[in-house]
Amino acid sequence: MRLTLPEPALVLLVGPSGAGKSTFATKHFGPTEVISSDALRAMLTDDPADQDASAEAFRVLSILANGRLKRRLMTVIDATNLRANSRKQFRALASRYGIPTVAIAFDLAPELYVAHNEQRPDRVVNNDVVADQTECMREAMTDIAAENFAALHVFTDPVEARQVVVERRPPARH
Ligand code: GTP
Ligand code: MG
Repeated sequence: MRLTLPEPALVLLVGPSGAGKSTFATKHFGPTEVISSDALRAMLTDDPADQDASAEAFRVLSILANGRLKRRLMTVIDATNLRANSRKQFRALASRYGIPTVAIAFDLAPELYVAHNEQRPDRVVNNDVVADQTECMREAMTDIAAENFAALHVFTDPVEARQVVVERRPPARH
């Protein structure tokens, strides 16, 4: 399977913890193209899971996203992006610069989020947190098709997410 992204784009990865968002981001994008809420929490507190730093992390995230989009650079938001309002704010930010926002959702079987989390070598996210996020994901998936994304790609199979080839379509010359 091939996934073609406009370049530049703002790419929102959408999915609960354990969905494979960071794995996908690292595989297909350069390190400076990806803005990760966990990495920013870690930079603020030395602990990527420190939720007390979330508000500050998202302020920094928004400054970085704005700076990159203003420069028309490919930008990937590696966060759960489970809230409709947060997705809307990102779309508004990109559209300020005439840049399309693409959503890539990891809508897997709920037990896979838990299984991936249990296997991970770094931080393990609590099963209750994953269950709450899975519920939010259900809601997100009912809303997301009607949101005004330039494109929406939904992975329902982790094998497909692992095997997809990501291509970039450069802007047409005028
Ligand atoms: P958060 O950062 O907590 O929101 O999760 P995430 O969506 O970024 O998940 P991440 O990419 O960190 O993957 C979580 C764990 O699952 C890691 O240890 C990955 O190596 C593993 N993983 C990701 N995708 C797959 C998959 O398709 N199959 C299996 N078996 N493991 C996977
Ligand atoms: Mg991650």
